[in-house]
Amino acid sequence: MFNTMTLTKVAGALIGALLFLMLANWAASGLYSVGPAGHAGEGEEHAQAYTIPVEESGEGEGGGEEEQIDFAVLMEAADPAAGEKGFGKCKACHKLDGSDGVGPHLNGVVGRAVASVGGYAYSDAMVAHVAEAPDWTPEALQEFLTNPKADVPGTKMSFAGLKKPEDRADLIAYLQTQP
Ligand code: HEC
Repeated sequence: MFNTMTLTKVAGALIGALLFLMLANWAASGLYSVGPAGHAGEGEEHAQAYTIPVEESGEGEGGGEEEQIDFAVLMEAADPAAGEKGFGKCKACHKLDGSDGVGPHLNGVVGRAVASVGGYAYSDAMVAHVAEAPDWTPEALQEFLTNPKADVPGTKMSFAGLKKPEDRADLIAYLQTQP
């Protein structure tokens, strides 16, 4: 009698404890499987959102470098004779004999200091441009001639610009032959 009662109590306690553990385990596994899965999903989304802008800025820098390399190649292949014809667009304002017209003379301009022709009245914008780019290197000239008013805002040179990089290279090569 006594033994049976004790056994029943112990068995009951064990079964109760087992049931409790099973329930706790089920509840815990339920929480765990939902929790980490949800967090992992969010984590992936964040990682992607940060990766995309980094790739884009990398491409942008590469593009800028490529254009500079291209211009050096263009200068090597430039044709001064074609540049002489191109200079027809500048003749209304620029001379190559050391005298100034609407614009300053352009003989010897490649490598010359910006706004350095004595007696010529440059705009304030061109005088200020010296601080940004002191000399008319081929690179500085090709930037200016692409769109003068964009390169030197406020310049009094009324010229729309030479859109074709080959035309700019040919013209600069021609100006290099005019000391
Ligand atoms: C409508 C007149 C006009 C035309 C066309 C023109 N320019 Fe000019 N250019 C000017 C004037 C004016 C200035 C002085 C700009 C200033 O002081 O802001 C100038 C300045 C310059 C300068 C800077 C010179 C220096 O001493 O710092 C260069 C280089 C130049 N021009 C090149 C050219 C070339 C190359 C062409 C032809 C593709 C051309 N320009 C066409 C009027 C002209």
